[in-house]
Amino acid sequence: MSYPYQIKSFHEYKTEYEKSIEDPAGFWGSIAEHFTWRRKWDEVVNWNFKEPKVEWFKGAKLNITENCLDRYLESRGNQPAIIWEPNDPEEHHRTLTYRKLHEKVCQFAHVLKNNGVKKGDRVCIYMGMIPELAIAVLATARIGAIHSVIFGGFSAQSIADRLEDAQAEYIVTCDGAYRGAKDIPLKSVIDDALIGNKTVKKVIVCTRTRTPVSMLKGRDLWWEEEMKQVEEKGLNYIEAEEMDAEDPLFILYTSGSTGKPKGVVHSCAGYMLFTNYTFVNVFQYQTGQIHFCTADIGWITGHSYIVYGPLSAGATSLMFEGVPTWPDAGRFWDIVDKYKVNILYTAPTAIRSLMGFGLGPLQNKDLSSLKVLGTVGEPINEEAWHWYDEHVGKKKCPIVDTWWQTETGGILISNLAGITPAKPSWATLPLPGVQPILVDEKGNEITEAVDGITSGNLCIKAPWPSIIRTTYGDHERCRVNYFATYENLYFTGDGALKDTEGFYRITGRVDDVLNVSGHRIGTAEVENAINMHAGVVESAVVGYPHDIKGQGIYAYVIYNGTHMDDQSLTRKDILQTVTRVIGPIAKPDKIQFVGGLPKTRSGKIMRRILRKIAEGEVQSLGDTSTLLDPGVVDEIRDGRL
Ligand code: WT7
Repeated sequence: MSYPYQIKSFHEYKTEYEKSIEDPAGFWGSIAEHFTWRRKWDEVVNWNFKEPKVEWFKGAKLNITENCLDRYLESRGNQPAIIWEPNDPEEHHRTLTYRKLHEKVCQFAHVLKNNGVKKGDRVCIYMGMIPELAIAVLATARIGAIHSVIFGGFSAQSIADRLEDAQAEYIVTCDGAYRGAKDIPLKSVIDDALIGNKTVKKVIVCTRTRTPVSMLKGRDLWWEEEMKQVEEKGLNYIEAEEMDAEDPLFILYTSGSTGKPKGVVHSCAGYMLFTNYTFVNVFQYQTGQIHFCTADIGWITGHSYIVYGPLSAGATSLMFEGVPTWPDAGRFWDIVDKYKVNILYTAPTAIRSLMGFGLGPLQNKDLSSLKVLGTVGEPINEEAWHWYDEHVGKKKCPIVDTWWQTETGGILISNLAGITPAKPSWATLPLPGVQPILVDEKGNEITEAVDGITSGNLCIKAPWPSIIRTTYGDHERCRVNYFATYENLYFTGDGALKDTEGFYRITGRVDDVLNVSGHRIGTAEVENAINMHAGVVESAVVGYPHDIKGQGIYAYVIYNGTHMDDQSLTRKDILQTVTRVIGPIAKPDKIQFVGGLPKTRSGKIMRRILRKIAEGEVQSLGDTSTLLDPGVVDEIRDGRL
């Protein structure tokens, strides 16, 4: 199979881009012709950013799993859909062909149905990176329920919050998960999350680590037993639920600058179209190639470029359970060598961490199968870009620097591998259908360039098919967060530069959101977690440049509790609290105890100053005259870690 909408030259990119802007309905309507619909649309797109209300393919009926599975049964039933590499390289890998995956998804869809899951119900999935995770996701979509996958690193408390917010009635989990040398007791975390929960009716537990678990009578069920019943009855097929184009497909929680994480909602048709289109074009996927995206399915990257993008394109998607540095720092290269991987899509933080191990781990690894390299999640520094290019791609693989967000569903700005030009540490050009604009604080377009470069806040002028539809249960929050800062624009929260060729470089968040190892964390969230610790009076959290993580977390804490005779113990107490409230990914790298925080007379913390101190730029703290007590700044600066 080839993809009629795969762009093949820079010239073609330009003409397609123009078409997509002049006539979005014509452009996306003709791409949509290449998918399987139960009923076609009445209207391609209808939108306003005021409410906001965005509808793509209104009136159309479909099920995304028919597009990912059923339509490939005949043409490529025996081709691998998912290849799974276990955490332990000694354990046998697994391959699920399109036929097998279809069968397993149908069977598990029966299991869900048998347990009462109906269209529109929320199914929370908290599993390690095993094929059953992808099966659970697709089975949920098959019966029209809404999945909400939670990354295995989140704590019981964060899961409890998400279950509550989504009013989830079902959970699919594992006894435990392997990640490198660690064994994470997932079911036991779920048990803690369910203390006091009033909505969850059933928990289906898949066996992976054989960690002892407590199974609650009437609530908890084993995956294997449930599947066996279905298999014995020969229930290998289930009719897919007919979904409206705009029915929600999934919820995925992500951090913002205020409050608790919000449930980003994506809908069926637009998300399917755009993840497929961007997968085929950005990575220039060719039939039969092996695509290896190293993300976890708990993040949007895994949803879009392990599951839905590749499978809807009939591709072979490689899924890896472990981590890049275990049993050693050559693991990615072993996997590339073993499966002859053609496309490798990973995060700058992984590249930087592997760089630290030198070239040894790359020796005697055959990487000649690689054709395309990709990065995602944070800005890639030039050093990491060149290392990736030279030592992994051997200077013959184009690198795609893909900028996007949980809210965008798919890639918005990126070069197309080998088709449009690359520029180290620049995401370069928008995908067709995407209209970026740089604005100043007031929302006016920035046109003035300094040495050919304009700089501003990155917004998008019109909707692409997989734009966020709402934040679950709170549409106003969606409006305020993304559509109210600047009238008639979607605001990304990122700052960007633009050069004379129209290339974009993403410089990072301009709001109070941190990007730690490619993971999004709100400073307010970390502060709330720290403040829950007894003895903490107040705290302020900022980011600072970190060699491997991109950004590190720096916390200033006012503390008057016990254990203060031993500051290092108090620091550990606080880290424990953060781990409990959010999860280990949100642990501050540095905790500085302070007597006060720099506040304005109106009581606002001046984060600008704290950021500068954390960055080590103590010479240029700027104007501190509006502070209530300018003296605290000296104290904080002198106590800097
Ligand atoms: C934020 C979104 C998109 C999937 C992974 C992260 C940053 C993402 C890039 C890139 C520079 C990037 C942005 C964005 N980001 N990709 N190629 N270059 N920055 O999804 O957790 O929703 O985070 O990640 O700051 O806003 P996310």
